Amino acid sequence: MLSEKITEEEGHSQTYSSRFFEEPIPKYSLPEKGMPANAAYQLIHDELNLDANPSLNLATFVTTWMEPEATQLIQESLHKNFIDHDEYPQSEKIQTRCVNMLARLFNAPDEANTMGTATIGSSEAIMLALLGHKWAWKKRRQAEGKSVERPNVIFGAHAHICWEKFAKYFDVEMRVVPVDEGSYTLRIEKVEPLIDENTICVGGIVGSTYTGEIDPIQVLNSLLVTIKREKGWDIPLHIDAASGGFILPFTNPKFVWDFRLEQVQSINVSGHKFGLVYPGVGWILWKEKKDFPDDLIYKVDYLGGWMPTYTLNFSRGSGGIIAQYYNFLRLGREGYTNIMQNSLNNARYLSQLLQKDGRFTLINRGEELPIVIMRLAPSVEGYTVFDLSEKVREKGWILSAYTLPKNAEEVAVLRVVVRENFSHDMAELLYGHIQEACLTLDKEKREHTKTHINVC
Ligand SMILES: Cc1ncc(COP(=O)(O)O)c(C=O)c1O
Repeated sequence: MLSEKITEEEGHSQTYSSRFFEEPIPKYSLPEKGMPANAAYQLIHDELNLDANPSLNLATFVTTWMEPEATQLIQESLHKNFIDHDEYPQSEKIQTRCVNMLARLFNAPDEANTMGTATIGSSEAIMLALLGHKWAWKKRRQAEGKSVERPNVIFGAHAHICWEKFAKYFDVEMRVVPVDEGSYTLRIEKVEPLIDENTICVGGIVGSTYTGEIDPIQVLNSLLVTIKREKGWDIPLHIDAASGGFILPFTNPKFVWDFRLEQVQSINVSGHKFGLVYPGVGWILWKEKKDFPDDLIYKVDYLGGWMPTYTLNFSRGSGGIIAQYYNFLRLGREGYTNIMQNSLNNARYLSQLLQKDGRFTLINRGEELPIVIMRLAPSVEGYTVFDLSEKVREKGWILSAYTLPKNAEEVAVLRVVVRENFSHDMAELLYGHIQEACLTLDKEKREHTKTHINVC
């Protein structure tokens, strides 16, 4: 592994006919000497050309395009460590403004003392929220003189991996509600038997990673309200609105899923998904400051001035937060509404094309969120969604193909996340390439069968 001699595998070989590099450059050990900046740039730049084109990456929820002015602001703040509040007080004020705007967007009651913070993404936000709920449960139990031995958290098998990570990393029993073939959101009748006095929180998802569907949040809230009245267990509902949190308030503001519901105590949202910011920003909000235990808030003074901190990490760039604020000012409610509505229209248009085609069964047609999920119709034989995903990749498109969670793992789907940069035109181009790919796969299948028969 740690050989002296640099083999072809271990080193970048000489490139540009010695214009830049005369000796191979090691890939896995620190080079003894440096190189000119332009040479280092060119070497890395060329290698990164092998990455896909982010605009055609329809597998990701994450933003791949921002306006040049936003990029400029990000560049201008690249050298600012956000955690240095004393040195960069304006960046922190901007975070507070964003938290306030989001609290209002999620209908925090006027009288509530809502609190929140920027995170690196929804994963950190969810872990922080659940940690707060675990701590609050523990304090409540201790005050009642009860055991704090076996806390549990309840969420659906369709939840993002970060829910499971939380349970493992923070030693909480996870009670996972299975999905069924044909029904991929939280089944309330399966939630109720899992709840007990040690439940720190129940999770509801507004836009599942697997199918883009929304859990029955209002029914879940009613169940927890009933349990609170009948048994005295005040179990919070955390809403994972990683993608839906930046869509529903604009496209369907009357739909009640947020702080308007009694048991919804915390909500996360990814700024870098439909918040329209480049990767690196998420948000967590608590309806009431009292819902987040004080003992999880640290006050440090090593950056000059006393500074409260309650994120899981410490240093971070400020660019994502600044860029979020840029989008809020630049777009306003009207701008976000136009973009989200447009994305929904394009998702629905693509769904119509796929539906008419006959080769696909649509699981999500972009009705609530701009996410299209399809499986191959039972009549399609000889190839899978994985083959199809690979085939369209030849044209540059990236569509994720995967199987649904346990109990529905027989169902293999293709996902298209329709973002702002995906136009009506692109829907037609993509559909054309999907059709082409299907025809090629059909032909390959026929040829394979013919050869097979000949050989036999
Ligand atoms: C529903 C849901 N929750 C959480 C996450 C994790 O979000 P992030 O990538 O912002 O950490 C995702 C990511 O796709 C998601 O879809």
